[in-house]
Amino acid sequence: ALRQSITPEARNEMQRSWNHVQSQASYKVAVLGASGGIGQPLALLIKMSPLVSSLHLYDIANVKGVAADLSHCNTPAQVFNFTGACELANSLKGVDVVVIPAGVPRKPGMTRDDLFNINANIVKGLVEAVADNCPDAFIHIISNPVNSTVPIAAEVLKQKGVYDPKKLFGVTTLDVVRANTFVAQKKNLRLIDVDVPVIGGHAGITILPLLSKTRPSTTFTTEEVQELTLRIQNTGTEVVEAKAGAGSATLSMAYAAARFIESSLRALDGDADVYECSYVQSDLTELPFFASRVKLGRNGVEALISSDLRGLTEYEQKALEALKPELKASIEKGITYAQKQT
Ligand code: NAD
Ligand code: LMR
Repeated sequence: ALRQSITPEARNEMQRSWNHVQSQASYKVAVLGASGGIGQPLALLIKMSPLVSSLHLYDIANVKGVAADLSHCNTPAQVFNFTGACELANSLKGVDVVVIPAGVPRKPGMTRDDLFNINANIVKGLVEAVADNCPDAFIHIISNPVNSTVPIAAEVLKQKGVYDPKKLFGVTTLDVVRANTFVAQKKNLRLIDVDVPVIGGHAGITILPLLSKTRPSTTFTTEEVQELTLRIQNTGTEVVEAKAGAGSATLSMAYAAARFIESSLRALDGDADVYECSYVQSDLTELPFFASRVKLGRNGVEALISSDLRGLTEYEQKALEALKPELKASIEKGITYAQKQT
């Protein structure tokens, strides 16, 4: 009877107020490398999130203009800018999630590992500051080569005595986003329904889409599996070549990173049903770091989803064994680098 006595307009208004109460912005997010190709569109997408109250933009250059521009969007997040090493510590104070896209991108002909010498040092310096200023934050590493920069970050955090493996993430969401797109196109599925777990790492053959675990359940011919797997492994290079010297994926990366941040914030906010693929410390294989689906919770990784690795096809099992030596070498390279620096 009560329901009948409420007009549709009143009901809409109640719904609007309820949405407002539910979406109280409360989390602080820092982007390190915020004026770059990824940093700028990523900052825009984070500014759109109702879960974010403060957005801290840090870069060594050009961040003031990005922040001034972004701050005029009438969404709740307040935007703050920090420039240069002397402002890095302040950019991290009180932050819940730190996302790191700082570093140089590939040019045609380069591998992600060719970026190691420059980006290893950048990531090391930034993670040291994270350890000193917001050791409890979730840390999302985007800078390549992710297979090595995440182990570097772990070593730095260990050296500082604040390593929490549940809160350190290599961002591999872009591989999932690509896999979902290509599978939906190939099989004529609704994009929103498709979910392909991608395991291993984030470079060449270490990127392993588990097409047999696609949801909704989908069958592929041997040729389709080979074609899709190769395409997903090489999409980064496809973009680098198309950009012809002007960098690598930025817009799709920003989209993917924003999805991973939103998932992290939902987990921090108590949502009990948050799953993403990520490159994390892992015991699912003999390798110390490995990308898989993980369950996210208030304290970071709550569980590694081992079921995806059971019942693999022969193709996937072979590809998994084939990726291990390269991934192992990249992990060891990162660890050795970080240990030598002390
Ligand atoms: P970019 O050159 O456009 O931007 C990088 C930004 O980092 C620049 O604004 C630069 O000033 C800043 N920077 C450099 N050193 C810094 C430091 N010490 N502190 C703070 N900021 C610093 O590059 P991009 O296209 O944004 O790519 C960034 C990184 O992301 C590259 O390493 C690229 O390979 C990687 N990437 C990863 C993925 C992934 O899936 N994980 C996808 C795409 C790109
Ligand atoms: C990607 O997958 O697009 C990134 O890792 C950037 C690159 O160098 O390919």
